[in-house]
Amino acid sequence: MIKIAPSLLAADFTCLGQQVALVEEGGADYLHLDIMDGAFVPNISYGTDIVRALRSGSQMVFDVHLMIENPDRYLEDFVVAGADILCVHVEACRHLHRTVQKIKDLGVKAAVALNPATPLSGLEEILPDLDMTLLMSVNPGFGGQKFISATLDKISRLKAMAMEKNPDMDIQVDGGITLENTEAVVLAGANVLVSGSGIFKAEDISKRVGEMREVAQKANITRWENQKK
Ligand code: DX5
Ligand code: ZN
Repeated sequence: MIKIAPSLLAADFTCLGQQVALVEEGGADYLHLDIMDGAFVPNISYGTDIVRALRSGSQMVFDVHLMIENPDRYLEDFVVAGADILCVHVEACRHLHRTVQKIKDLGVKAAVALNPATPLSGLEEILPDLDMTLLMSVNPGFGGQKFISATLDKISRLKAMAMEKNPDMDIQVDGGITLENTEAVVLAGANVLVSGSGIFKAEDISKRVGEMREVAQKANITRWENQKK
């Protein structure tokens, strides 16, 4: 149920393969791959070549977060490169329903991301079709930013919406997640945790994955118990 998704953006780019192996050894479920185009967000990261290169050395689920304008143009390329989950931003899609169907037709899981200022109401009609929703807890574009605390309330409201419309949907949170705020994020209702600096800047990268999972799993049990009461 709890999934740990280290974000490659915070890894040491001089030895990406080794960095990926470290989080995989630590038991990470997903590798979170941030694709930035310098238009939707004010930064450029990397593209399909890096995804393809890493794919051959890893068994992890490749979770591709597309922070790009008009993502429809590149969906197939990222699937061919090795994506297992494709996440598009609601703010970047004019015909979101069509885009989500396109992702599913390509045979991978479909996720939709919301920026911090985007209201949950934009998701209402598409929610039943999604495998995962991603709530941004920083403004996208850069790693290492501070978690926006108002996200906690947004997670709880999304969880309530999901319980009604799509109880199996994963809730992913991305931006500023550390060992310190993991508990609060899971208590609010998230089950997929993206963490870049929180994992890759740790002294022992592999160990940090396990530590985060342990805190998250404990919080998840507490959440279940509170729910039963
Ligand atoms: C931000 C990216 C995040 C980022 C997370 O635009 O979508 O995935 O890499 O990094 P941290 O955990 O350092 O905030
Ligand atoms: Zn991301």
